[in-house]
Amino acid sequence: MSVNKTNAFETRIIHSFYNQQENKGALVPPVYQTSTYSFSSAEEGAACFSGEKDGYIYTRINNPTLDLLEKRIADLEGGEAAIVFSSGMGAITSTFWSLVVPGDEILVDMTVYGCTYSFFHGGLERFGLKVRHIDMSDPTNVANAITENTRAIFFESPANPDMRLVDIQAVSQIAKCNNVIVIVDNTYCTPYMQQPLTLGADIAIHSLTKYMSGHGDVVAGAVITTKEIAAKIRMVGLKDMTGACLSPHDASLVMRGMKTLPVRLERIVKNAQIVAQYLESHPKIASVIYPGLPSFKQYELAKKQMKLAGGMIACEIKGGLESGKHFLNRLNLFSRAVSLGDCESLAQHPASMTHSTYTPEERQFYGISDGLLRLSIGLEDVNDLIEDLEQALQ
Ligand SMILES: Cc1ncc(COP(=O)(O)O)c(C=O)c1O
Repeated sequence: MSVNKTNAFETRIIHSFYNQQENKGALVPPVYQTSTYSFSSAEEGAACFSGEKDGYIYTRINNPTLDLLEKRIADLEGGEAAIVFSSGMGAITSTFWSLVVPGDEILVDMTVYGCTYSFFHGGLERFGLKVRHIDMSDPTNVANAITENTRAIFFESPANPDMRLVDIQAVSQIAKCNNVIVIVDNTYCTPYMQQPLTLGADIAIHSLTKYMSGHGDVVAGAVITTKEIAAKIRMVGLKDMTGACLSPHDASLVMRGMKTLPVRLERIVKNAQIVAQYLESHPKIASVIYPGLPSFKQYELAKKQMKLAGGMIACEIKGGLESGKHFLNRLNLFSRAVSLGDCESLAQHPASMTHSTYTPEERQFYGISDGLLRLSIGLEDVNDLIEDLEQALQ
């Protein structure tokens, strides 16, 4: 079997970098469930440690099962190399610990996932870095905000939870002229829908927990970038600073889930479009934020940089927080759960759940209203989903 770059995404995500005949004919890649590796001699061990020889040393640094997942993800994202981690937060923290030093400044978009926000403010700022939030929906704000201390620009597009987009190409061009690294959390899109590196970003990050694995049974993360930056993140952030290595068994679960990513996403997005339209026309809904609706503020940008509109919907119910809570409690088919990208549809309340790491004042400042609800649309029959939403809204 030989699969190469000319094969389609759908083919590469199943087959690339794996040869069954080299693995006793096993259809599915074996799991190298080992923590360490024996060297054929003391000299070989020393050569592996000094970097003279490529070889496996210890699973926190490298492992054949993780290698395969890393090669596949790098290829799908259009990057030179990838590193996988035991969580999306492991990927984010390992990246920053490897690339920044005290005194550096990081520019961050207005809203990001709650734990990323608390890492920036409770983590990086404690160690002498400056983190500044700016509204990146207008790239000129980025150009105006860069100073000589700016080391990196970080954003999610769409952002969790309010779906704001950033023009990845425009911001990356500005950053390049100023020698600043652009890091994009591409969790909401996956490489099937959007490829930040091909739009000029330097690093793409994923929580593989979400759409990539897609079945709610594993927590994992990834970083995709150049070989040079990846080597630094592996040998500093992963090996020494966080130790957030993925278990080989979980890597195998991620690869199993990834095989169906394109078909899952196509169906999820179809469902999400219908649900978003239904919600938008409902008298009890104050607003719906979904990139596939013409009412979406950055509709043209969504069409330009995203292949599909995605499976995440943000909406506000008339009556604010109390109505929102009541609505969540009435749902039967949607699970009241954080996370996203699973086969099951999920609903959650960012102000009291994923974004409770922001103070109420910060949430108000960054535009995460108390009445905002976040839906992750799954693979159920869309009529059943709408029936559930309808009875809850009633
Ligand atoms: C956009 C985004 N990035 C990163 C993370 C963190 O990923 P993990 O939960 O795998 O650590 C999440 C988790 O919800 C997320 O939504």
